[in-house]
Amino acid sequence: MSKLLIKRGRIVDPSQNLDTVMDILVEKGKIKAIGENLFELEAQLIDASGLVVCPSFVDIHAHLRDPGETYKEDIESASRCAVAGGYTTLVCMPNTKPPIDNPHVANYIIQKAKSVGLCYILPSGTLTKGREGRELSDFYALKQAGCVALTDDGSPLMDSRLMQRALELAGQLGLLVMNHCEDDTIAYGHINEGYVSSLLGVASRPPQAEDILVARDLILSYHTGSPLHIQHLSSALSVELIRYFKGKGAKVSCEVNPYHLVFTQEEVLKSGSLAKVNPPLRREEDRQALLEALKDGTIDCIATDHAPHATWEKGQIEKAKAGMIGLQTALPIALELVRHGHINLSKMVELMSCAPAKLLRLEGCGALKVGSKANLTIFDPEREWVLDERTNFSKSQNTPLWKKTLKGKVIYTIYEGKVVYSDA
Ligand code: DOR
Ligand code: ZN
Repeated sequence: MSKLLIKRGRIVDPSQNLDTVMDILVEKGKIKAIGENLFELEAQLIDASGLVVCPSFVDIHAHLRDPGETYKEDIESASRCAVAGGYTTLVCMPNTKPPIDNPHVANYIIQKAKSVGLCYILPSGTLTKGREGRELSDFYALKQAGCVALTDDGSPLMDSRLMQRALELAGQLGLLVMNHCEDDTIAYGHINEGYVSSLLGVASRPPQAEDILVARDLILSYHTGSPLHIQHLSSALSVELIRYFKGKGAKVSCEVNPYHLVFTQEEVLKSGSLAKVNPPLRREEDRQALLEALKDGTIDCIATDHAPHATWEKGQIEKAKAGMIGLQTALPIALELVRHGHINLSKMVELMSCAPAKLLRLEGCGALKVGSKANLTIFDPEREWVLDERTNFSKSQNTPLWKKTLKGKVIYTIYEGKVVYSDA
């Protein structure tokens, strides 16, 4: 059936200042009508009373591990995980094996994502060949192949001259430069520098490693006039630096990982290497600064940094890989922020859908407009569930939230008018 009638949902779309109970009619993959008491005989009926209906989520930062490390995740498992989390767009990171530093790898991903057909998967290309930080990749070829952004994520681009050149070139091509900001001459350890790293006697990654590169990149973006996106912001001083440069009119955006909004370095004492992530979980003061920055618009979006790793790669903290899975936990975490009054529901949808769609200039995403593609998520903000072998769609289980009760569950995800996930 190509028609869907979504009845009596609370429609939240900040792009149109909409927060009201209404019906939505979907026909031939597009939104046909939004209004009260819509009626359509031949449509599949979805009773959305008590549920929130919003533009589906857009993740500007996800690691799909395909090609090369498909024992952790692959394009199909990641797509299933995405739609179960309410996402219909993923920007995948290029630290695959081989990396996305040439059109062949980008093509492989685009083709495989299309054949899976559950959501949009948009590759980002590397800033430098082999992610080695020595020579810029062929940005034009990557753009032609369908890459939407450039980053060496996992590693910073340390060479300032290359970063400046990258901003200039990518700016001309309309590609967004994103940087993992941590000076790795200082950030060579495993967890935040502080009393927890001292207690455990573990080498650390201090916040100044982040602040130094954030400051440098803000200055370079300001001088070149080219857009810059700062990935997984975690430090209070970096927040202030971004606020300052935004005030000066710099074309700067940034994202935060949900985990940095709910956890601090103390989580390492409870969850061990499952709480190891780069940049690391920091102090309560940093977390508070991030929450404040969500409210005042300094932070543009929430990105999952979904980073699957196998259980055997999450052993002893010094040897463990950094990262956490995050596509299915982002909504429950964001809803916790709503319940605690840090943001309202409309702001949450803006941070997870409208803003990243706008940053990437995606048409048909991040808004529920009549005539546009029907990409929408319907969730129950109250439903409790447990992330475990039964509910998890990732091939990996690395999160401190494993087997924990979460509040807030996606009930339907609709991609171009098709129900691609349902838990009704
Ligand atoms: O914790 C992280 N894991 N941070 C990154 O920047 C990369 C990621 C990964 O690829 O596992
Ligand atoms: Zn990442």
